Parts: sequence; C-alpha cells; structure tokens
Amino acid sequence: MLAESGLRRQFLQIIMSNKATESRSSSAKHLAIVGATGAVGIEMLRVLERRNFPVASLRLLASPRSAGKKLLFRGEELTVEPLTEKSFEGIEIALFSAGGGISKEYAPHAVKAGAIVVDNSSAFRMDPKVPLIVPEINAADAASHSGILANPNCTTAITLMAIHPLHQVFALKRIIASSYQAVSGTGAMAIEELRKQVEAIASEKPVNREVYPHQIAFNVLPHVDSFLEDGYTREEMKMQNEGRRILDLPSLTASVTCVRVPVYRAHSVAVTAEFEKPVSLEKAREAINAAPGIRLHDDPANAVYPMPIECSGEDDCRIGRLRLDCALPNALTFWVCGDQLLKGAALNAVQIAELL
Ligand code: A2P
Repeated sequence: MLAESGLRRQFLQIIMSNKATESRSSSAKHLAIVGATGAVGIEMLRVLERRNFPVASLRLLASPRSAGKKLLFRGEELTVEPLTEKSFEGIEIALFSAGGGISKEYAPHAVKAGAIVVDNSSAFRMDPKVPLIVPEINAADAASHSGILANPNCTTAITLMAIHPLHQVFALKRIIASSYQAVSGTGAMAIEELRKQVEAIASEKPVNREVYPHQIAFNVLPHVDSFLEDGYTREEMKMQNEGRRILDLPSLTASVTCVRVPVYRAHSVAVTAEFEKPVSLEKAREAINAAPGIRLHDDPANAVYPMPIECSGEDDCRIGRLRLDCALPNALTFWVCGDQLLKGAALNAVQIAELL
C-alpha cells in the first residue's frame, strides 16, 4: 500500500490540518483526561481548546494529591478529581496519560463504562487488538478498535512523521537513528529537576538528583527507559516494534540509541533510513512538502535546520539536514525535530479522538 491516491492525500491533509476547523460538525462529547495535571495532560487541555474540539463536558482526573486543584479550560475553572473506578460514568472519550500502570488498571473500567480510551502509555501498544495510530499515517486502522486505541512512543511518532512520506516513494527497509530527547518526556518532575540543577550549578551549590541516575544539567545520558538483556533499552526498541505496526511493515528493522539531553521540550532524532528503491533528494523533498504535519526546514548554508527551541509549541514536526547517505546505498540521512508533548503525545491523542 505504498501508493496513496490523490483523493486520499487531499482528505488526509484536510483532516490533519493543524488549524482548528470551525466547520467540524460532530456532536459534542463528554471527555475525561486521566493525568490532567501532568506535563502531557496539561497539553491535552490546551490542544482541545486550540483545535475547538467539540467538548460537552470535561472531567479532569489525577492522583489524590491533586484533588481539588483548579485548571482552566476555555476560561472556566475545572476542579481536578481523584481517579477512581467510578470516574468514567457518562464519559464517551477518555484520554489517558498517567503512566502504564494506571492505564492497565483503569482503562478497562473506562471501557466497561462505555468510554473509548485513547492511551498515551506503552501499556497496550503491542496488543494486536489495540490499534496504534499516527493519524497522518494509518488513520484507517482506528476503525478496528474495540474500546482502546494507543498513542505511539513520542520519538517513534516524530521519526515516522519524517519517514512515512519517504517510505511511500522509496519503500523503507531499515532505520539507524540516535535520539536527543527532552526532559519533559520524563514528566513534570524531570523539568523541575533540570531547572533546579541549572540554578544550583549557576550559584555554585550542590546538585541534587531524584529522577535521573546522573546529573542531567550540562550532561547527556545515553539511557532512556530500562535496559534489556541485549543491551538496547526498551525505549530504543519501540522504533522497530511500534514502527512495524504503524507502517504495516513486519520486516522493518531499527537500530536506535536514545539519549536524554538537557533540553526542556521537543525531541530531535538523527536518522539514517535505508530504502528498497534508489533514492533522490528531489523526490524526497517533494514527498515531504506534500505530506501533512511535517515541514522541510533545510537551508544549512544559512544555518537553517530544525532545532528543539523552535519546534517547542509547534504542531508540525520539522525535517532538515536532508542528504544522500555517504556510507549506505539507497539511504537518506536527516535530522527531524518535533514537540514530543504535542505530536508525540497530546496532539496525536486529540487527533485520534477527532477520528472517532
Ligand atoms: P498528580 O499530579 O496528582 O501526581 P507526569 O508524567 O508529568 O509526571 O504526570 C503524571 C500524571 O499522572 C499526573 O497528572 C499525575 O497526577 C498522574 N498520576 C500519577 N499517579 C496517579 C495515580 N495513582 N492516580 C491517578 N493519576 C496519577
């Protein structure tokens, strides 16, 4: 299914438009956000507002620690409630972003109450009954859900946003990549840890750490998620495992090194992608320019390339440093950046909810 008809592409471009569509006519939904106070949960609120998602009511759920806290949605103060098994009565769509354990425990209660769950954790991503969706790539798979849909890993989603248009033209075979992942991917506590460490170092005070195994300020950690027996981390294997499902490419292989960097927001990935067919830069640029959700930002002579600082807060991912790989035939090497709280999490989840 490499060729995509012009009509389907047009349709995708319309539904994937990152501008809020006033003409959206579906009836308003009763929504819940599980993990509403977290780094991704807060972004979910903002994305629902920004995209004019038709919300009839919104229930904000978090741990008992946050019960009673107020968050603003469309100018109205909503009170955060503690998550319980009964939290989903009357809810039609529940967006989960409170970690895998909470998803495993509470998503079944949400489904039982009649809600459709869009889960941002890794709890269900490899479950064959749960569609794993990047709407720009495999929106049609969403139709086969039986109550739960999964949002992919953030680094995988951002990388595939760049790879998918190229795959359609050249047929992807293999990925070799290194990621540069922002601390907000770990959550709100990691943002705070980086801020405090920078302050401590600037004022020559001792550096404390709780979230990461080493100091993250002015350092890079080649360690994201836990290590597997073969030496890769769980995060690193997501590109291959989830990529196979999203691209419907069971033979895809991906060798990835994931690195945590002292950046607050937006992940970057240096990617070499090998294809079945001969590649050309002209066709690659054409494919990127025609694809929704990814923008070519590539004029190295004028120091124009994607950077996390510019991609933060942006819905679109950016690709640059696009070149023919000098070591592998039929391969392209490039740099892709995207706001992982948006395309890798909140935006992608809301886009899935829009498909519903
Ligand atoms: P809380 O803020 O009350 O701890 P992050 O990824 O930024 O750390 O956010 C995690 C989110 O998951 C937060 O909203 C957090 O709520 C929520 N959360 C953590 N533990 C639980 C729990 N046991 N029940 C419900 N929500 C939880």
